[in-house]
Amino acid sequence: MNRKFVLGAVLALAAGASYAQDAQDTVAIGKKLTTNNCAVCHTFGKGEPNGQGPNLFGILGKPFASEPGFKYSAGMKAAAASKVWDDKLLDAWLTDTQTVAPGNAMTYFEGDPARRAKIIAYLRTLH
Ligand code: HEC
Repeated sequence: MNRKFVLGAVLALAAGASYAQDAQDTVAIGKKLTTNNCAVCHTFGKGEPNGQGPNLFGILGKPFASEPGFKYSAGMKAAAASKVWDDKLLDAWLTDTQTVAPGNAMTYFEGDPARRAKIIAYLRTLH
């Protein structure tokens, strides 16, 4: 092995470790943002009861407005069609819920794209 190769491998490892650390930080910050901004209305643990909003465990990949036992608004039900929650839909939802489901009952908006990305990164871990 030549020295350049060894150095390259060490740098690549370091970069990988720092990427993993960044991803961890993103999720940790996302969890905090979610707890502070969403937990007044939503629960996040598996099988936890609905609050003012539906339980959000496993929301990524889940069909729109499909939490059993939650009484969705008419606006929410009208917009459901065959939508499934993915990163893009969640980002649009948190930016302005009314563009996704006009007349829905959720009054929270997050204007900062970086904060939305962190919240979504955390939600992705709930499965
Ligand atoms: C003031 C209460 C409130 C806050 C704060 C709030 N929500 Fe909601 N949320 C609701 C309500 C109520 C609904 C159901 C809307 C309806 O039926 O019209 C909802 C619905 C949702 C849905 C759709 C779930 C489904 O089953 O399709 C998602 C996703 C969601 N909220 C995410 C969030 C996230 C993430 C946050 C924090 C960044 C947040 N909400 C903050 C009240 C809230």
